[in-house]
Amino acid sequence: MDFEKLGKFGTLFKIIGMLLVARKIAGGIIGIYKAFLRRRKDLVQRYGKNTWALVTGASDGIGQEFCRQLAKIGFNIILVARTQKKLEETAEELKKINPNISTKVVPADLSKSNEQGWAENIYEQVKDLDVSILINNAGVDVFERFELIDPEYLKKMININCTALYLLNHKFVPQMAKRVKKSAVINVSSGVVKVPLAYYSTYNGTKALVDYFTLSLGDEFKNIDFMSMQPYDVSTAMMNNRPPDVMTITRQECVKGFLDCLGYERQSVGHWKHRIQDWLYSLLPRWLINLVFFNFLMEDFFKERIPLVQNWRLKGATAVNAVAQDTKKTE
Ligand SMILES: NC(=O)c1ccc[n+]([C@@H]2O[C@H](COP(=O)([O-])OP(=O)(O)OC[C@H]3O[C@@H](n4cnc5c(N)ncnc54)[C@H](OP(=O)(O)O)[C@@H]3O)[C@@H](O)[C@H]2O)c1
Repeated sequence: MDFEKLGKFGTLFKIIGMLLVARKIAGGIIGIYKAFLRRRKDLVQRYGKNTWALVTGASDGIGQEFCRQLAKIGFNIILVARTQKKLEETAEELKKINPNISTKVVPADLSKSNEQGWAENIYEQVKDLDVSILINNAGVDVFERFELIDPEYLKKMININCTALYLLNHKFVPQMAKRVKKSAVINVSSGVVKVPLAYYSTYNGTKALVDYFTLSLGDEFKNIDFMSMQPYDVSTAMMNNRPPDVMTITRQECVKGFLDCLGYERQSVGHWKHRIQDWLYSLLPRWLINLVFFNFLMEDFFKERIPLVQNWRLKGATAVNAVAQDTKKTE
């Protein structure tokens, strides 16, 4: 394009173009600094010795790994999830990792968080403990045509991903804000918020809510390090334990990446592999990401998740049918 012919507008377009390119390059350089050069804050010093971290979804996946890494550096751990046995086994493991810490198991079903007194029940069990870190991690997803998802499952998902998280923030944040030392709240959102995909609308919506909620709340409570945590793919049961690869990281890498960012970033994708992914996505238009996903990746993604989908579904067609229907439509 001949910018000279556009006169002053041509110069303006050139400047805007250069600024946009410079911004993306600067973003990449800052990302390298954050991922490889910046030193982690001393979390025990920052949030207090012998204090407690409350973690939801503590019995598996990313939540369990948060418990391990925080126990290792000296935090006492309150473990919340549904299955008492899994929680107790994890608590025992934590005591082996660090015999000097204490643990408390609090079984709770987050899908019932809409019931009267749900958050109070958890709070009552731990109110005498000095909770300095709150990690709202438990979450569930569904990859499915929207109209095929059972409405009861939709309600449960919103309760687990949103209602429980709001209520635990509401219960714990005011007292955490009054602590002499700083406190931290990690609300687990997801990288998918940046790349909204068809068939993932409900999950995306819940995670976008978590993200906006956390960003805003952080400005209300300056004494708390809020983080909206936005990982891309992590090898856990949620991803059918897909082996780590160029895009999928281990749960250890994931948690380390986010603890490294705590106290620095209000919104983060954490590990360097996910930073690269995030940067690349930021260069591409959403239609192109969707096009690549639906033409090259979706079939494998569905296949990988069919065992999970079959567990979720209470009636109606499976995700495979959804793909088949769509294929027919485009034929
Ligand atoms: N894995 C990923 O690629 C990925 C990417 C982005 C974001 N995330 C987010 O990261 C978080 C953790 O995911 P994950 O992959 O670690 O999941 P996961 O391996 O499936 O673990 C889920 C944890 O949540 C608990 N849980 C599930 N339903 C519950 C309920 N109704 N009440 C109480 N606890 C419940 C589970 O324990 P019980 O079954 O014993 O209750 C388990 O401890 C989620 O919020 C997810 O959305 C994950």
